[in-house]
Amino acid sequence: MDSLLIKGGVPLHGEVTISGAKNAVLPLMAATLLTAEPCVIRRVPDLSDVQFMAQILSSLGAKVTVKDDTVTVRAAKIKPFGDYDLIRKMRGSICILGPLLGRLRHARVSLPGGCVIGTRPIDLHLKGMEALGAKLTIENGYVDAATKRLVGSDIFLGGRAGPTVLGTANVMMAAVLAEGVTTIESAACEPEVVDLAFFLTEMGARISGAGSPTITITGVKELHGAEHSVIPDRIEAATFAIAAAVTNGDVTIHGARPDHMSAVLDKLKDSGVHIDRKGLTLHVRRNGSLKPVDVTTQPYAGFPTDVQAQMMVLMTVTPGLSIISERIFESRFMHVSELARLGAEISIEGPSAIVKGGRPLSGAPVMASDLRASAALVLAGLAAKGETQVNRIYHLDRGYERIDQKLRGLGARIQRVQEK
Ligand code: EPZ
Repeated sequence: MDSLLIKGGVPLHGEVTISGAKNAVLPLMAATLLTAEPCVIRRVPDLSDVQFMAQILSSLGAKVTVKDDTVTVRAAKIKPFGDYDLIRKMRGSICILGPLLGRLRHARVSLPGGCVIGTRPIDLHLKGMEALGAKLTIENGYVDAATKRLVGSDIFLGGRAGPTVLGTANVMMAAVLAEGVTTIESAACEPEVVDLAFFLTEMGARISGAGSPTITITGVKELHGAEHSVIPDRIEAATFAIAAAVTNGDVTIHGARPDHMSAVLDKLKDSGVHIDRKGLTLHVRRNGSLKPVDVTTQPYAGFPTDVQAQMMVLMTVTPGLSIISERIFESRFMHVSELARLGAEISIEGPSAIVKGGRPLSGAPVMASDLRASAALVLAGLAAKGETQVNRIYHLDRGYERIDQKLRGLGARIQRVQEK
């Protein structure tokens, strides 16, 4: 298992370009199952999750070719069930459920287990499929959804923590080939959901209201092939913005969508980070000390849970008290104990972490537990005096394309160590 060795204390300087969004590309790849015609997706990031999804589509019978950052999928003849283990391993693969049910009126997919950040049930996904007329059976680790007719319906998709992103995507992808009109209430408004609706519309679907809590889908008989470029990864862009701030650096971020990052940029500004936005470019720099800010994670357009850990690192190097509250996932503080190894002072009170910032961090060996926690440990290593070793970085490779190379391009002293 690879690890990263980081010699911290170097202010980052220079320019970096953002890759396509992991959380947009997974549902886009699943959507290609809705037509027998070829689909071309561009700006696809080179990530292990993308490779997983390509293998899953192949296990369903689709022909998948990956050339540089372009993925071509031809799902001419597919079957309603794929490789159990592959699907079980990657939660994001649950979003093949809707397209399979939509296209074949039958889907049999392995249940995605929970993960370290929470139990992550799929009850809302299943509620949506049932509302469209599917009969569900859950046995032997599989959910089997089948129906003779898929009929449009009004579906409220709000849950314990508000809307569901992949649940909205799944129901939308089933409803595009249903008879009649479907209205999704309390739909997720994330940019990744909007990007998917754009792609489905390019394939011939009839969708309105994507990006708002009410999405209306008028079913059509069939969809055709289409080409689409993935939106930039707002979480990767936020991670690099915080990397600049946490190292007292000066970084220009190209190919981002600042309009998708308002909540994060607003909090960074509140803490005293200088942010200049020009089109798709963000110039992030910090001179001097910062102010502590409180953060509460919320559904989009609120502060994203996928940036909570990285923001916590910034607050550990900011003198004063700040409160970081996690309202989306019930156990997304796995990074706290590892940050404590670097000298951070953080205590957890229920859904909130109280950060006593300002004590300089010092390098140590730490263990990544999940994707965003591993990004936070890398940022902490960049800020810490001495050497930090971040282990189990396979978590990082799931969601960040060549992050160590990109950071080296900004002057970071970071290298990947392959375990013998
Ligand atoms: C997507 O996960 C992202 N993953 C997550 O990013 C992200 O954290 C999350 O949305 C929230 O923004 C992908 O897009 C692949 P949810 P998703 O359904 O869709 C509860 C990362 O780091 N819920 O919006 O699975 C759920 O438990 C990953 O890139 C139900 O109760 O998240 C959670 O508390 C991590 N029942 C909340 O809703 C359901 O049926 C939001 O989850 C579905 C969800």
